[in-house]
Amino acid sequence: MPSSPVRDAAVVILAAGKGTRMRSDLPKVLHRVGNAPLLHHVMRTAQAFGARRTVVVAGYGADQVQAAAEAFDPAAKLAIQDQQLGTGHAVLSARAALQGFEGDLYVLYADTPFVTVETLFAMQAARERADIAAVGFKAADPGKYGRFILGEESVLEAIVEAKDATPQQLAIDVCNSGLMAGDCQTMLGLLDRVGCENAQGEYYLTDVIGLARGDGLRTEAVLCAEAETQGINDRIQLAAAEAAFQSAARTRAMADGATLLAPETVYFSADTALGRDVVVEPNVVFGPGVRIGDGCVVKAFCHLEDTHLAADVQIGPFARARGGTDLATGVRIGNFVELKKARVGQGSKAGHLSYLGDATLGAGVNIGAGTITCNYDGINKHQTVIDDGAFIGVQTALVAPRHVGKGAYTATGGVLTEDVPDDALAIARARQVNKPQGSASRLRQMIAAKAKTQTKT
Ligand code: UD1
Ligand code: CA
Repeated sequence: MPSSPVRDAAVVILAAGKGTRMRSDLPKVLHRVGNAPLLHHVMRTAQAFGARRTVVVAGYGADQVQAAAEAFDPAAKLAIQDQQLGTGHAVLSARAALQGFEGDLYVLYADTPFVTVETLFAMQAARERADIAAVGFKAADPGKYGRFILGEESVLEAIVEAKDATPQQLAIDVCNSGLMAGDCQTMLGLLDRVGCENAQGEYYLTDVIGLARGDGLRTEAVLCAEAETQGINDRIQLAAAEAAFQSAARTRAMADGATLLAPETVYFSADTALGRDVVVEPNVVFGPGVRIGDGCVVKAFCHLEDTHLAADVQIGPFARARGGTDLATGVRIGNFVELKKARVGQGSKAGHLSYLGDATLGAGVNIGAGTITCNYDGINKHQTVIDDGAFIGVQTALVAPRHVGKGAYTATGGVLTEDVPDDALAIARARQVNKPQGSASRLRQMIAAKAKTQTKT
């Protein structure tokens, strides 16, 4: 019986396969696209869809898959499929994890990262008319895909695996993506009746359709773009998926109001978020965890990860930021500056050649060229705190833990091994000594004499 609109959804993500063709010790679904495991892409889609429950079916490398699933969503449930006996068997492995759930079950594959939330909504809409919705696509090369046997008015009569298909069925180009949705109890009940008398001796999820039709249920085909169903089985397809991901990420960033001067040279991660009127110059890499606020300029050759820029920040060229760096509005970071876990207050500046690690800077701080926070003593990391309005002279080494007070001033070339009080001037360098006139000439004579003895021997 067709359901009422918008029922609760549980998403079951099939991720038990080893992915032999990856030739890898890492489970296939943990290989990365856009710096995120394939599994996370699918979990992100499930989240955007509003799934009430997410079950990941793991088998090969289950511990690693579980850790990755929990890293994305601590509430995600894990189901173990010890032996990979087929997609139908895989969904049945999720039964215990679905205990107590009432609503619709959506089956997704972890190795198919580009399925859009719009397609899931299209399945949800189809569920208002049909008991089961399955997603197909017109394949340029139908090859090994299962074929959709369509009846009248997008009724799906059956799905036939290529290995079990007749030549006439193989001529069909509407193929199975693998996505399927229906009432959870109905789906599990049908799956209990699926056998394994087929060319591969597997329990096919796809057999659910024929069984449902036999029961007089209505099954509907929903079509999506082939690009969405792009699966990943080897490193070549992984590279193609990465290229597709980058291209889509660049287009989305520009559509959302960022200017990319050379889009094809900018690398995004799955979670990169750019605000409006952000300008990104060529050759920028956004690692995981980057959020860039409105009006920021990221100049050429920056490498950012786990970093937040508030509004109107300028960074680069050639800057690196990582480890939970947070730059407030109007901060200016120049060339060859590295920031690690640096919190920098409003309008502060570090223009040239610096390392600020484990550092907290207030507002309006000026960091002279070549300044280094010596955060690591070989055993532990230590904090540097520089208060509002302080001025750090060129080539200063702040030996952490170190505190420079409000409005303090430190002279060029300092090695600060003591804290600096508010409004103080710290001079922490050896005094200059000039040897008498003629010393330089004498030195040059000694060098020349040495050179002569060396040419003789
Ligand atoms: C499946 C479909 C086929 C469809 C194709 C789309 C079936 C029987 N066939 O075929 O109609 O055109 O996907 O790509 O459903 N998995 C498990 N446990 C298992 C078997 C598979 O978790 O026991 C997982 C895999 O890790 C993978 C997904 O299910 O993520 C699909 O499995 P795969 O073996 O690639 O299915 P295909 O034979 O390609
Ligand atoms: Ca496959």
